[in-house]
Amino acid sequence: METSASNEQRNKVNLRSQEWFEGRDELGLQSRSVLRSLGWTREFFTGKPVIGIANSWSELNTCNLGLKAVAEAVKRGVIAAGGVPLEFNTISLGEELMKPSAMLYRNLLAMELEETLRAYPIDGVVLLTGCDKTTPAQLMGAASANLPAIQVCAGTRSASRWKGHELGSGTDLWHYLDAYRMGEVSEQDWQAFEKNYSCGIGTCNTMGTASTMTVLSEALGMMLPHTATIPAMDARRLAAAEASGRRSVELVWQDLRPSQIMTRAAFENALRVYMSIGGSTNAVIHLIAIAQRLRVPLTLDDFDAYARRTPMLLNLQPSGKFLMPDFDEAGGVPALMQELRDLLNLECLTVTGHFLQETLDEVPYRDSSVISSRDHPLAPSGAIAILHGNLAPRGAVIRTTTASTQLETHRGPAIVFDTYQDMLTRIDDPNLPVTAESVLVLRNAGAVGVPGLPEWGSIPIPKKLLRQGVQDIVRISDSRMSGTSYGTVVLHITPEAAIGGLLALVQNGDLIELDVENRTLSLLVSPEELDRRQRDWTPPQRIHSRGYPRLYAEHVLQPDEGCDFDFLIPQSDADLTFHPP
Ligand code: FES
Ligand code: MG
Repeated sequence: METSASNEQRNKVNLRSQEWFEGRDELGLQSRSVLRSLGWTREFFTGKPVIGIANSWSELNTCNLGLKAVAEAVKRGVIAAGGVPLEFNTISLGEELMKPSAMLYRNLLAMELEETLRAYPIDGVVLLTGCDKTTPAQLMGAASANLPAIQVCAGTRSASRWKGHELGSGTDLWHYLDAYRMGEVSEQDWQAFEKNYSCGIGTCNTMGTASTMTVLSEALGMMLPHTATIPAMDARRLAAAEASGRRSVELVWQDLRPSQIMTRAAFENALRVYMSIGGSTNAVIHLIAIAQRLRVPLTLDDFDAYARRTPMLLNLQPSGKFLMPDFDEAGGVPALMQELRDLLNLECLTVTGHFLQETLDEVPYRDSSVISSRDHPLAPSGAIAILHGNLAPRGAVIRTTTASTQLETHRGPAIVFDTYQDMLTRIDDPNLPVTAESVLVLRNAGAVGVPGLPEWGSIPIPKKLLRQGVQDIVRISDSRMSGTSYGTVVLHITPEAAIGGLLALVQNGDLIELDVENRTLSLLVSPEELDRRQRDWTPPQRIHSRGYPRLYAEHVLQPDEGCDFDFLIPQSDADLTFHPP
């Protein structure tokens, strides 16, 4: 279901690249000589849209490694549709190797992409994404540039088996890690597990952040239908890439831009999908960041409201049982959206050039064992909840589909870790006065504090409790957690401790109350005592006195504002215009 631009549409479009390539002066000649240096004849490129292919493949990041081949298929599509493909590389955000977290560099990639699009003769762009932060970073940059754009993902890695069990990325690692820490898994088995766990290229095959964000990109309308879920090694991925390449040329001729696709209505659809898949908590931060770039209003309250009104349908790890290839076989995002159809805005334009309605009219199939029907949802509502209270006046997030129901209403004494290192040093100390009632508190782990808001929030269960058979306790922090993690974990406490949030004032033994039903997170200490502690508090010293981490700490916004940089947020509609270099 793709359409070509009419001649009338084509005649209306002034290609941005022609400013470079059509000049009669020496600059025009120099520009054309770049294309000729690629071995191209003038006939190959004259008068055609230039399609940038923003590639994030790297050997530092095996999640995105397959994009090298994907780019070739995109180029084939661009050329077939009468465009000129020019591939360029960007920083590669690999969650597995980057310290403290690829999140520190999400805004850097967004800026790099925006500025590459600004400075170079590019008419439209194909965004090749993969690991977690790549997808939001590209959508942020593309939103600010607002040139015709389409996203293609690397696809998820296949599931290998270990001891007769399919391994879910991240999720199974955390399970086996706890068993290994308990001495229940031998050293030999641990090594065998490692061999099987590293089972090839592609993104995590669970509903971690990478899968959540690619699914949401498709739900927003920025990827072709039923392409977000295709596994990395499936030949259909290359076909999807070719089709996306072709579409990118038509997007330019139709002058269809991200701001026309990522509207408030499209974000509302994305929120529905997000809640129905039990997506990663990180998507809260990312969706707000993307929306803000276009001045689309989107707040934490929207997330809570949609969570309350959207059934959970997808049976995927870590909330459920299956893996991403199963979701793909079950019909993928269109089949899921078809089930939510009456809750969606069907008149949203997508990169197909059509309304969402037309995509959903063509859904052929849905496997109800993976994507439940609306009549029999996995849960009637509430995949995540947004909490407020004196501990989180500007909000905190919990994924309820991976939390323990009996802990969702809980009051217990705090055990405070001042830093991540402090937590690692003491968590398994036999003298740590921890019980199943304790609330573990990690602070100074936020956007400013580290800096970079790493995935440290899923504090391991102390060995002492694991030995007693305790599987979960309440953990709270100003940090994030991997979308593949699980447990009763409250995240993104805002404002964070390092800028003076109340979290900074919690002391060991203070009572903390979590009440998910009533959406509250409270520190049960008198205001007088808190005032006294506040007067004694001094902010922690900033670690970085120079470079990008300093820029980040000085300009990053809090999670309720998407952790974007303050200077990247448009201040008025006038800022939505993409000025030439
Ligand atoms: Fe890259 Fe999960 S670590 S997608
Ligand atoms: Mg992840």
